[in-house]
Amino acid sequence: YEIYLNGLAGLRPPYPTDVAGLEQAARRHLAPEPYGYVAGSAGTGATERANREAFDRWRIVPRMLREVSVRDLSTELFGRTYPAPVALAPIGVQSIVHPHGELATARAAASLGVPAVLSTASSHTLEEVAEAGGPRWYQLYWPHDDEVTLSLLDRAAKSGYDTLVVTLDTWTLAWRPTDLDHAYLPFLRGTGLAIPLSDPVFRSRLERPVEEDLNAAILRWAPMFHGRSHTWDRLSLLRDNWDGPIVLKGVQHVDDALRAADAGMDGVVVSNHGGRQVDGAMASLDALPAVAAAVGERLTVLFDSGIRTGADVLKALALGARAVLLGRPYVWGLAVGGEEGVRHVVRSLLADLDLTLGLAGHRTPADLDPSALEAR
Ligand code: FNR
Repeated sequence: YEIYLNGLAGLRPPYPTDVAGLEQAARRHLAPEPYGYVAGSAGTGATERANREAFDRWRIVPRMLREVSVRDLSTELFGRTYPAPVALAPIGVQSIVHPHGELATARAAASLGVPAVLSTASSHTLEEVAEAGGPRWYQLYWPHDDEVTLSLLDRAAKSGYDTLVVTLDTWTLAWRPTDLDHAYLPFLRGTGLAIPLSDPVFRSRLERPVEEDLNAAILRWAPMFHGRSHTWDRLSLLRDNWDGPIVLKGVQHVDDALRAADAGMDGVVVSNHGGRQVDGAMASLDALPAVAAAVGERLTVLFDSGIRTGADVLKALALGARAVLLGRPYVWGLAVGGEEGVRHVVRSLLADLDLTLGLAGHRTPADLDPSALEAR
């Protein structure tokens, strides 16, 4: 009602409340290259479209005359209670859309109590971002230098990041035509490297200080962080050196989810990176039910890729996710309004989720199961 009451005083919401309108507003704010970087996906965009089409194949079946006037969105993840089953996905190089980048995102998330997952490809150091307070999760792009890896984990733990999200699906960048046509890769300009470039162990690998020779530092960073995959047997390095929960992001196959459980992981994010990696890959939502059925008792199953509305969140929860990660939509909010814009997007999503949950006849996320939906 906040928005309608403001309307009585002649005020309109400062930013569009639907994601498509917000994306259009962001596009007007941004140069084609950064807009294309965020909006773009791999190849023909088939997987990005599939992500959305999969949501459309499920329909909510509302139930009536239930006591749902007061809802409770609070959700327990890894032994900690959060206000809602929503976190902000790790998104790198946020300063390409707003100078405050990850700082603004972290402040908005902290003000709402939702976790913001900080990317290793951040434009600000993890120590700076930690000052925003709030729940802190750290996403690792896993370097091929164990001492650098351990240094990043150590810094994250010391700065109060309690949950580690290890992204598996982006050990090298996919074929992304928009960025290729623009010949645009933020990292090669030094953007998104604040965490490695500030790392004492990484710096000790350089012949000359970063400040004197940025290009040499970038050339050192590239093969350390990109171009080679790790293997399952190496997960023990992370398990042995991280006390908190570890979540593997980018899981689509049931067997990979089972291996994650066997490797002592605490969770998985069913994700295809928003369709930015394997063009032609299955929709992330289509991967969710089988993964949840296989490991839901052993692991916390999170989901992303395609979440745009409260109904989308409801569908993912009903199909087995404990919580979802919000991706591109909050970046559009960041582009148009910095911290305030991110807060607007997250508050809008949570209000939409709360209304949709209640109108569909459910009081809490835990009340949802596949019977809340019908497959078209
Ligand atoms: C991402 N994503 C991502 N994931 C990750 O683990 N580390 C990262 O640094 C990034 N960076 C990144 C940048 C941009 C511009 C985008 C759009 C995405 C993937 C992200 O965490 C998430 O999986 C997707 O955004 C989910 O898809 P949707 O909902 O945005 O379509």
